[in-house]
Amino acid sequence: MLDPHAQIVRRASDMRGYYADEQALEQLITAHDDPIHYETFESPVPEEYGQVKFCISRLYPGKVGDEYFMTKGHYHAVVETGEAYLGLRGQGLMLMKTAEGACQWEAFAPGKLIYVPPYWAHRSVNTGDEPLISLCLYPGDAGHSYGDIKSEGFPRRVFQRNGQVVVS
Ligand SMILES: [Fe+2]
Repeated sequence: MLDPHAQIVRRASDMRGYYADEQALEQLITAHDDPIHYETFESPVPEEYGQVKFCISRLYPGKVGDEYFMTKGHYHAVVETGEAYLGLRGQGLMLMKTAEGACQWEAFAPGKLIYVPPYWAHRSVNTGDEPLISLCLYPGDAGHSYGDIKSEGFPRRVFQRNGQVVVS
């Protein structure tokens, strides 16, 4: 059996430095008692070559200012490892970028697979009004690295403007 799974919780206060509107994030933290932003449930599979790790992640809906809730995003510590995501519930975007500045994105939808190639950092964004829930699978030795994300962010952000999802 693979239970129990490790739960990783990110609260709004863990997201300081990631959103464009820092004041709006502080208001969210204060007004809603530092709500859970997203959480992942990681398989207890050993983190070693040949294993396949998997996790379920739940990213709550909402906006910081007019920017949709998102995960921090990460590279893999072993950069030449990819990952597959399967949308289970909700709507959103997978933002992907390389250290060289390329940026692409793909829509999440229930039942739809998204492939993150090796070398690409990846961040989920919830553009819907319900939790964005996905399953991910990745090599056991991939690891996580925040690399330049805290300092550089992603080249694009995802906003709600005039009721529309805008990547800008
Ligand atoms: Fe990953």
